Amino acid sequence: MKFGYFDDANKEYVIQTPKTPYPWINYLGNEQFFGLISNTAGGYSFYRDARLRRLTRYRYNNVPLDNGGRYFYVHDEGDYWTPGWMPVKRDLDFYECRHGLGYTSITGERNGLKVNQLAFVPLGFNAEVYRVKVGNVSDSPKRVSLFSYLEFCLWNAHDDMTNFQRNLSIGEVEIEDSVIYHKTEYRERRNHYAYYSVNRRIDGFDTDRDTFLGAFNGLDTPQVASEGKSGNSVASGWSPIASHGIHLELAPGEEQSLIFMLGYVENPQEEKWESLNVINKKPAKAMIEAFATDAQVNSALADLAAYWDGLLGKYSIQSSDDKLSRMVNIWNPYQCMVTFNMSRSASYFESGIGRGMGFRDSNQDLLGFVHQIPDRARERIIDIASTQFDDGGAYHQYQPLTKQGNNEVGSGFNDDPLWLITGTAAYIKETGDYGILDEDVPFDSGRQGSATLFEHLKRSFDHVTNNLGPHGLPLIGRADWNDCLNLNCFSEEPGESFQTTTNLDGKTAESVFIAGLFVFAGPDYAELARRRGLEDEATRAEREIENMRNITMAHGFDGDWFLRAYDYHGEKIGSRENEEGQIFIEPQGFCVMAGIGVEEGLAEKALNSVRDRLETDYGIMLQQPAYSKYYLNLGEISTYPPGYKENAGIFCHNNPWVTIAETVIGRGDRAFETYAKIAPAYLEDISEVHRMEPYVYSQMIAGRDAVREGEAKNSWLTGTAAWNYVAITQAILGIQPDYDGLRIDPCIPQAWDGYKITRSFRGAEYKISIQNPDHVSKGVKSVTVDGSPIESNVLPVFEAGSSHEVVVVLG
Ligand code: BGC
Repeated sequence: MKFGYFDDANKEYVIQTPKTPYPWINYLGNEQFFGLISNTAGGYSFYRDARLRRLTRYRYNNVPLDNGGRYFYVHDEGDYWTPGWMPVKRDLDFYECRHGLGYTSITGERNGLKVNQLAFVPLGFNAEVYRVKVGNVSDSPKRVSLFSYLEFCLWNAHDDMTNFQRNLSIGEVEIEDSVIYHKTEYRERRNHYAYYSVNRRIDGFDTDRDTFLGAFNGLDTPQVASEGKSGNSVASGWSPIASHGIHLELAPGEEQSLIFMLGYVENPQEEKWESLNVINKKPAKAMIEAFATDAQVNSALADLAAYWDGLLGKYSIQSSDDKLSRMVNIWNPYQCMVTFNMSRSASYFESGIGRGMGFRDSNQDLLGFVHQIPDRARERIIDIASTQFDDGGAYHQYQPLTKQGNNEVGSGFNDDPLWLITGTAAYIKETGDYGILDEDVPFDSGRQGSATLFEHLKRSFDHVTNNLGPHGLPLIGRADWNDCLNLNCFSEEPGESFQTTTNLDGKTAESVFIAGLFVFAGPDYAELARRRGLEDEATRAEREIENMRNITMAHGFDGDWFLRAYDYHGEKIGSRENEEGQIFIEPQGFCVMAGIGVEEGLAEKALNSVRDRLETDYGIMLQQPAYSKYYLNLGEISTYPPGYKENAGIFCHNNPWVTIAETVIGRGDRAFETYAKIAPAYLEDISEVHRMEPYVYSQMIAGRDAVREGEAKNSWLTGTAAWNYVAITQAILGIQPDYDGLRIDPCIPQAWDGYKITRSFRGAEYKISIQNPDHVSKGVKSVTVDGSPIESNVLPVFEAGSSHEVVVVLG
C-alpha cells in the first residue's frame, strides 16, 4: 500500500494523506541553519548544533506524535483549522505534502479556502522562510484570519527540557512592527537572538504561550485561533512563542501571499545593543528585507533548485528502471547530504540532544557525499581528525558547534581510527588533493599537540597494530562497528550505559571485523605513504596487512564463514560452536570487501552462508540465531528483543557490505538482488509494513524473529545511505574514483543490456555508455574515449571543463 508517489520530474515525493504510518519528514538547510519538517508541518529548527543552538521547541515522545512545529491556523467564520491537518485535525477537502530537495510544500483546503505553506532555507542564509498562500477558491468573498505559531526553545535543548526552576523565569522577547524577537539570555552571555517576521502589517500578535492557547488547551484548540483574535500578549518568563495575527479579505478566486521568516542573528559583542536592553536589530532587518517579495522568494527557490541540479548532476544514470534511477539520481544522494550534515544528531529518532557528530559515522557519511562538495568533505575530515587522541584512538563523537570531543559519549571503540583512513582516501581519490595530508591537525582539539594529517593516518593504522590480542587479531576495545557488541563490559546494573561505563581492561577480546577493516583500509594508507615517497613505511604497512590477512584466514574463519570475534575469555563468537549468534553479517561483508579468502574460496563460502542463513524477504539480518536472553559477556546486543536492532534485526547499514562483497567475487545478480531488497523506492508498495519514508533508507528493519517483521525504524540518519550509494554507484554500476583516474569496473545482473552514466570528476565531464552485448556480470572487454580505444579500464584525468564520450563494452 502506498501513501503517495514519486514525482521524478520535480524531484519530489508527494504524500497524499496526512495519516502516514509515522511522520514522514524532510530536512531544510544545507549549511548552518537547519530544520526538520514533517508532512503535517511538525518539527523544529536549529543553528548548527541541535543541542546547543536550538531555536524552536519540540516535545519528544509526544501524544499524539509530532505535535509541535510551524503552524498556520486559519480562522474562517468561526471554523478554525490547519492546512497540514495537524494539530487541529479538522477534515480537509484536499491535502498534499510535497517533500522536495531542501523544501517542503504543504497544501490544505477546506470550505473553499486553499492554503499552501512552503518552507525552505535559502542558500547561505540563516533563516527558514515560509511562504504562505491563502486562496479563495469559493464563489463568495471571504474574510478570514491567519495566525502563525511557533514556540521558542531557550537555546540549549537539553537544559530547556530539564531545568524548569530557572527557565520558567528567564524568557524575554521584543516586539517591533511585525517582528517578534526572542532574546532570552541575550542580556547576559549570549550574543545571538532569533526572530519571527512577516512581510506585512499585523493586526495582532502573541508571545506568551498560555495566552495564545488559553487555560487547559492544547495546540489543537488554541483560544486565539478559535476566537479569531490575538491576545497581544508580551511574554515574561514561562514559555515564549511567536504568533502573528493577520486579517485577510479575499474576493472569489483571489490569492494572497505572505512571507514569514524565522531567523537567527549573531551580533559582535560591541554591537549587541541598540540602547539599554534593546537588542541591535539591524542584521535581522537586513535579512527580512532580502525576502520581502514573492519575486525574491521565487528567485531563492530557483537558486536552491539549481544548486541541487548541480550537485545531482555530478553522477546520474539513464536506465530503464525508474526505481533505480530515482534512487541514484535523486533520493540516495539527497540522503547522503543530510547524513553528512547531521551525522546522527537530529531526526525523528535522534533527539538532537544525545549524539553529535560520530567519528566513525561521519567518516563513512562522507564516502557518499565527497563528490558533491569536496571542500566540505575536506573541512569535515580535518574537524574529525582534530578530535583524535595522540595515540591514534578517538572520541566516539564530537559536538558540531564546539568541534570538541564529547566525553559523555565515550571513546575506546577500536574501529574508529581506521575510518579516518577510508574517509581521507575517498577524498583524495575524488579530488587528487594530496595537500590535505600536509595540513597541521591538532590532537584532542590541541590538548595533545598536533601533527600532519598524514601522521594522524599513521597513528590510526598503528593503533590497530599496537593493540593486538592473543591470536594477533585486533583488540575490540569497547566495541567495534557494532556499538552493541560489548565484550569487555559485563554490565549488571540496570540502566548503566554500555557505551560509557568503565570496562575491564580487556587484552583478549578480538574483533575479526576490525581485522577485515584493517585489510580493507590499510592498502590506502600504504599507497598514500608510497605517494609521499615513504617507500619503507609503505612496505612495512603492506607487511602488516599481509600478516593480518593470513591471521584472519587462520584464526578468523569458522569452516563456512568468518568468525565475528573472540570474547573476554578467548571464546569464539559467531561460530557454529555457539548456541545462538552463530553467524554475523559484518565480517562476511568486510573481509570479502578486503579481498580476504577470495582466491582461497573462503569468500564465496562466506557469502553463500550469508544467503542461506541470514537473508530474508526484507533484507539480510545481522546475525542468527537471535539471542534469546541477556549474555553478560556480550553486552548490549543481547539486550534487544530478538529481531530488533543489532540482535538479529536487518541492520541496513551493513547490507551494502554484502552487496559490494558480491561484486568482489563477480556475482552481479546477487549483488543487485541484495541492493534492491532494502532500497526504499523498491519498498514503496509495502509502505504499510515498512512504515517509514519510502524515499530514504532506515537504519533498521525488523528481522525474522521480530513480532513485526519488515517494519523499519530510525529513518534518515544512518550509514546505510552512504554505503548503499557506494554499493550502487561504484560497485554495481562500476564508476570508481581512483588515485589516477576513474576506474570502470561494473558488476551487474546478466540480463542488463547496458546503461548510461554522466559523471563529473575533477572538473571534467565523462559521458559513459556501458554496453553488455554478451550478457555478462563483470569484465571490461573494451574502452573507447571520444572514439579512440584505450588500453586500460582507468579513464584518465581530463582537463577541467572538458567533456568526453566513453564507450565501455563488457564481455
Ligand atoms: C551508530 C553506528 C554503529 C551502528 C551499529 C549506529 O547507531 O551510529 O556508529 O556502527 O549503530 O551499532
